[in-house]
Amino acid sequence: MACDNDPMPQSYEYDVLIIGSGAAGLTVALNLPEHLKICVVSKADISSGATLWAQGGIAAVLDDQDSTENHVQDTLAAGGGLCNEKAVRFTVENSKESIKWLIGTGVNFTRDTDAQLHLTREGGHSHRRIIHAADATGYAVSTTLTAQAQARPNIELRSGRVAVDLITNRKLALPGNRCVGAYILNLEDNHVELFRARFTVIATGGASKAYRYTTNPDGASGDGIAMAWRAGCRVADMEFNQFHPTCLYHPHAKSFLITEAVRGEGGLLKLPDGSRFMDRFDKRGELAPRDIVARAIDHEMKRLGADHLYLDISHKSAEFIRHHFPTIYEKCLEFGIDITREPIPVVPAAHYTCGGVVSDERARTDINQLYVVGEAGFTGLHGANRMASNSLLECLVYGRAAAADITRREADIPPPPDAPAWDESQVRDSDEDVVISHNWDELRHFMWDYVGIVRTTKRLQRAKHRVDLLAAEISEFYSNYRVTNDLLELRNLVTVSDLIICSALQRKESRGLHYTLDYPGLLHEARDTVLIPTTYRTPSP
Ligand code: FAD
Ligand code: SIN
Repeated sequence: MACDNDPMPQSYEYDVLIIGSGAAGLTVALNLPEHLKICVVSKADISSGATLWAQGGIAAVLDDQDSTENHVQDTLAAGGGLCNEKAVRFTVENSKESIKWLIGTGVNFTRDTDAQLHLTREGGHSHRRIIHAADATGYAVSTTLTAQAQARPNIELRSGRVAVDLITNRKLALPGNRCVGAYILNLEDNHVELFRARFTVIATGGASKAYRYTTNPDGASGDGIAMAWRAGCRVADMEFNQFHPTCLYHPHAKSFLITEAVRGEGGLLKLPDGSRFMDRFDKRGELAPRDIVARAIDHEMKRLGADHLYLDISHKSAEFIRHHFPTIYEKCLEFGIDITREPIPVVPAAHYTCGGVVSDERARTDINQLYVVGEAGFTGLHGANRMASNSLLECLVYGRAAAADITRREADIPPPPDAPAWDESQVRDSDEDVVISHNWDELRHFMWDYVGIVRTTKRLQRAKHRVDLLAAEISEFYSNYRVTNDLLELRNLVTVSDLIICSALQRKESRGLHYTLDYPGLLHEARDTVLIPTTYRTPSP
């Protein structure tokens, strides 16, 4: 029940509402004209997304020895035959301009002694093509773009705001297929506010928090994907969740990545007895694409009963290691591991959501005036396996494309219609939050065990059965109790987990990141798994 002394719910109106303040959301905001009134919301701090944690860098063709065609071909090869070639070409062709824009914002990338941008290598790339700010590229990008946005009078940055659901004409029983804004929980006073906007942009990042072990920060619960799905958007290729091969293994190290650039600069993967093994799995060895390396590590760990393997760069000089990987060096030292002298214990962990909300080259979704950018979106760039460092590039390229499209259209789009305030009259405060914490743990455990690096139809069916039970429980909880951030994240994680499981059940082959013992071969034709809300059914096994 609402109390008499509850504050009146607030309502706001903007030209553009951007949900998410990572590289994708801020790129949109900073590329829009300054006469537009823009609001960027984020769940926790403005830099709480995955962007802040990016290490390796951003892929782009910047070296004379390299070419657009090389980058295109590498991306297509890593993507296991499933990339949309048009999207790949569009992204790669726009990479140089996007990087130029980013450098113009003031991001300080690492340079060689002759002041040229230093380019590193990562798995799947046939050339050195990754620009980076030492091993903390995301920090440099996030802090620079945030400072730029803070300096713009037309951009409001609101942290501690959790989008609950999108508002559409359909929900308002109005004609047309338009997005009108979103209901957003204000974590300062725990009330849901109404944000109406002429344009709404989903930039909420990925869903790797669906898994027990992940490199991602806490907020990666697939909120934007779940919200867009509930609003009626198609979602594609959710079975392709990328596992990064090398996350630091230590009981007190939460989600700390060891960048692929360590392997790019000569780091070697080793078994507990010190021997190498990658050559047995792929001729590219440590620099094979991520799906292959993660599966090889998983295979060797299971074969040996080991709880981790090792990544060793200690054969390089201590000066080289400290210069290239200062953050990793310091972090490992905190845990008593001196990477200049000893190998780093590593395990694979969920890292990136290749699928997402279906969008076109202008980042438009199935709903008018609703855009999606960054990891929440599905452009077709990544196919069955994202190539390293292509994701920040996608944030930039499609963020700029969305801004360009909004700029072109904005004079023709009228203000949003009225919408009712959030109705809390039928709900009360929860008296058993243990349901939420228990279900969080259960979900992330079975997703790891049954929907992980190696799958079977039986495991997927077990997971489907459990996710259905959780969905029913959460739906009941949601109808009866006031929303909290934990409840919203769990509700969204259950939805995206269901989408991941159903997509995986539909794919009757092993391609890229989706590997199932029941269908180890490759089908002749490569097809995206596109789920449509109106025709959604559990696939038959
Ligand atoms: P994010 O940066 O994740 O931002 C999401 C934003 O949405 C946040 O502001 C969050 O608060 C907000 N949000 C989410 N839900 C809600 C909600 N309901 N309401 C309001 N706000 C919400 N990629 C590369 O290309 N190169 C790399 O070197 C690289 N290294 C990586 C290292 C790590 C450890 C990780 C985790 C990822 C790495 N990636 C890398 C992937 C890349 O960082 C991400 O794909 C990219 O940063 C995603 O950007 P984004 O803007 O889409 O989302
Ligand atoms: C890494 O630095 O290994 C991560 C790069 C990426 O996810 O693209």
